[in-house]
Amino acid sequence: MTSEFNKTVRGMRDFLPEDARKLRFIEHIARETAELYGYDEVITPAIEYYELLAAKIGEENRKRMYVFEDLGGRKVALRPEFTASVARLVATKLRSAPKPLRLFSVGSLYRYDEPQFGRYREFWQANFELFGSAMPEADAEIISLTDRFLTKVGLRNYHFKVGHVGVLRGIFSHEGIDEEKQNSIMQMLDKKEVEKAINLMRETKSSGESLDTLKGLLDTSGRDLNSVIEKMRKIVDGYPSSVEAVENLREIVALLKDGGLKTGILLEAGFARGLEYYTGSIFEVYVPEMNIALGGGGRYDKLVEIFGGEKTPAVGVALGMDRILIALEKQKTPMRYNIPKRLLIIPVERSMLGEAFKLASMLRDDGFCAEVDTMGRSVTRALSDADRRGIEFTVIVGPKEIKEGKVILRHMTKRRQMIVKLDKLSEKIREESD
Ligand code: HAM
Repeated sequence: MTSEFNKTVRGMRDFLPEDARKLRFIEHIARETAELYGYDEVITPAIEYYELLAAKIGEENRKRMYVFEDLGGRKVALRPEFTASVARLVATKLRSAPKPLRLFSVGSLYRYDEPQFGRYREFWQANFELFGSAMPEADAEIISLTDRFLTKVGLRNYHFKVGHVGVLRGIFSHEGIDEEKQNSIMQMLDKKEVEKAINLMRETKSSGESLDTLKGLLDTSGRDLNSVIEKMRKIVDGYPSSVEAVENLREIVALLKDGGLKTGILLEAGFARGLEYYTGSIFEVYVPEMNIALGGGGRYDKLVEIFGGEKTPAVGVALGMDRILIALEKQKTPMRYNIPKRLLIIPVERSMLGEAFKLASMLRDDGFCAEVDTMGRSVTRALSDADRRGIEFTVIVGPKEIKEGKVILRHMTKRRQMIVKLDKLSEKIREESD
């Protein structure tokens, strides 16, 4: 055994109760949002064939996958994202499900990233995918859903960064750059290695005009959406599929605004994301307190087909629950929901344990979190334990009171004690609650 065996593995974390509760709160809101928008949950395995996960994940993410051979000799990997698994379902078991198909997933994912602020090797996402529509309303729905989720979870001052991979790819394709090179250029742009990207484009013997067009796009961004779109439109003139992409972006943004989206949008003409499967709109979410994305998504119209399914356009988003948790903490937003009142039931002697169990069961039926003292403590010591753990009420079960169908209810912070009839106990606790 190594001397480190009782520590977590680098990049892995324990969630102690307070953090676990916060993470589950975020999950709860994600699930509520899925229900509001009609996304059905699917649960896919954490281990999939390497080939499936690696197909279009992009070079950077591919290098960071946890890959291994299982005992049956299969080359498998821990999932680094949900999109490939959900697209696999749509290509196979859900092939004939009516479209649009809206699917939700939540769980942990694995990437061998360098651990740092907001970056872990095991992290959590709430993931939403919409299959079957190539219309801009589908892209707008995904952004609107993201917006509702973030508002519901209590996040403030966030904004969307939006772009469209079709704008850049339109230029590359026009210049005859093959897909592999295009992907490399996009990866560089994603990592903000602009010079490297431009040099690689030069190497492909791209025209001077296309280099100027790319540079022009990389310089174009802003929050005045109409003017940024107009500028993009002018820059890409002469590249028909880039023009189409700009028009598509114009429609998506207009739909969002007409639909009442209040959240700020930063349009970035040269925006690229690391994943290779994107074919259309792409976006990320940011808050001023952090310079890493809280979520990201976009359109990917070819993936289902690559996995052997029907031609199925798709768009989706994954929200990074760990980073959202950090952002909410920074913004001092409480992350709690419907936690039942905690009660400690204290039998004054062992002969009262059965009565204490019955009482706890009755209180749980009424929706309280009731625990019976399991430490054999005296009433005094049990009371000070309740104080230390911030328990609001204790119920003391003594033979004299039980004989009369009563118990002692004690409000711990108010230091007030009263004798209450058993059938009035729940009512009294609610009445006495803050
Ligand atoms: P992604 O941008 O790779 O997209 O990840 C989405 C979010 O997951 C990030 O914005 C971030 O909040 C969180 N995340 C990613 N890596 C880490 C990490 N190492 N530690 C903590 N959080 C992390 C996707 O995964 C796509 N599947 C999104 C998508 C769905 N596109 C279409 N549908």
